[in-house]
Amino acid sequence: MLRPADARASALWVNVCMTQTLEISTLIADVREQIMYLQELGVETLDVKLPERVASGELRVEGKLRMLVSPVSSIVAEREVAKPAPLRPPGSRLAALPSLSKLSSAVPPRQTDIPMTEPKKESLSVEMMPAMPEPTETIEQIQAEIGPDCMRCKLSTLGRTHVVHSTGNFNADLMFCGEAPGADEDQQGFPFVGRAGQLLTKIIESIGLKREDVFIGNINRCRPPGNRAPEADETIACKPFLQREIAVVRPKVIVVLGATAAQNLLETKVPIGKLRGHFHDYLGVKVMPTFHPAYLLRDPHKKREVWEDMKLVRDYLNTTR
Ligand code: URA
Repeated sequence: MLRPADARASALWVNVCMTQTLEISTLIADVREQIMYLQELGVETLDVKLPERVASGELRVEGKLRMLVSPVSSIVAEREVAKPAPLRPPGSRLAALPSLSKLSSAVPPRQTDIPMTEPKKESLSVEMMPAMPEPTETIEQIQAEIGPDCMRCKLSTLGRTHVVHSTGNFNADLMFCGEAPGADEDQQGFPFVGRAGQLLTKIIESIGLKREDVFIGNINRCRPPGNRAPEADETIACKPFLQREIAVVRPKVIVVLGATAAQNLLETKVPIGKLRGHFHDYLGVKVMPTFHPAYLLRDPHKKREVWEDMKLVRDYLNTTR
């Protein structure tokens, strides 16, 4: 017959097991939620580093349990102390995800009756993406800081007429980003006002928007001589201003036009033909690379692909409204 002390121990043990089952379910729900967020941000694969013996299935059940339960306990405790923001409602700005390792360090691991069989240093770690900086300035301030006579790179001495600043809706959901001004833009002082710009206006209108609804800028604000691609030192000097503008506008989607702009913003060498057609991530903002309108003027057959890309952009924007 079960002695009262044994019965109490059994009840305690059942209680511990049930609590841990609940906590494992919570962990699974949390991980699923984070994966959904990461997928939304464009992450297709996730490298989760597990200690070798877990990966090889060598650890005993208690060891596995403790390793999995520890972050869950912390997440549960964290939730009770400070209620986390609910799942991002459609249309709101993307929030930076708390990392599991950050959560687990915030609250000390809960003590249980299960014997500790593995050292505490073994924890589940997931590498998180850098977040968009909070804006502390306005577009006007950024452009005033650049000034009308910027001398930060050699393009200022190579025949530039105007520094061509970004224009449009400073609160836009959609942004277009080109490479650098051409001859017309250099003369007039505004981005995408030449033939390629007129085609861009049609592309914008093809998805039911007006040019003044969107924000339009370039990675480089000064025209390179002979329309050559901007050189690395020129981009290094200029791109941070565009990145600051993106942090202010916080668009939901950035359409990057052409290989040079796409590779510069996404910091990749992947060709535009491979980049286009699906969303990428820039600090939590969806990025759709597509062909440059100047290229479409030379090869109109490529308009079909641009239309495919723009439909994806339109559909995504519609789901977030
Ligand atoms: N091409 C670009 O990349 N940007 C412009 O503003 C005009 C043409």
